[in-house]
Amino acid sequence: MYTVGMKTGIFPGTFDPITRGHSDLVERACQLFETVIIAVAENPGKNPLLSLEQRIELVTASTAHLPQVRVLGFKGLLIDFTRREQAQVIIRSLRTASDFEHELQLAHMNAQLAPEIQTLFLTPNPQYDFISSSLVREITRLKGDISPFVHPIVANTLKKLWP
Ligand code: COA
Repeated sequence: MYTVGMKTGIFPGTFDPITRGHSDLVERACQLFETVIIAVAENPGKNPLLSLEQRIELVTASTAHLPQVRVLGFKGLLIDFTRREQAQVIIRSLRTASDFEHELQLAHMNAQLAPEIQTLFLTPNPQYDFISSSLVREITRLKGDISPFVHPIVANTLKKLWP
């Protein structure tokens, strides 16, 4: 396995819910880091559909095949969580050009707040670059089939929310 010698990478997000696009990114990150912490943000500003506990549970189930992965919830600033976990790198996903501006702003702000922490951008497999959590939620609400986009456990949980 190729490694660039970095120990712990943190992949933060709201994960409302985790999708196959997120899982693809985590699998890539596992090729670069000894440990990948998936940091599930409370993120009340986004008014998540799923509780923090539900999101952590679904992320854990969707990444159970990856022994390097730890799943933790966090509240407060991402850089404070990253420091507490003694991680060196924040991993973010760039799906399309439209992600870039928002991600650059976050990365620059985090770099101002914590210059010792780097942001690393990874791209998911193009077959997943159109997936987003909000589209998955909308398709579920409108009784569409989300099974190509999420782990079966996620699909079952969402279907129970909108029977
Ligand atoms: N596959 C599928 N979807 C993906 C994806 C991928 N590989 N990469 C990104 N996305 C989607 C997500 O599904 C989500 O979609 P949605 O908006 O339709 O629900 C969207 O891209 C981005 O969401 P998310 O990953 O949750 O990022 P965010 O921009 O909401 O930021 C945090 C989340 C946790 C990184 C940010 O809010 C944060 O750092 N919070 C802590 C507080 C803090 O430190 N604030 C200061 C920041 S400078």
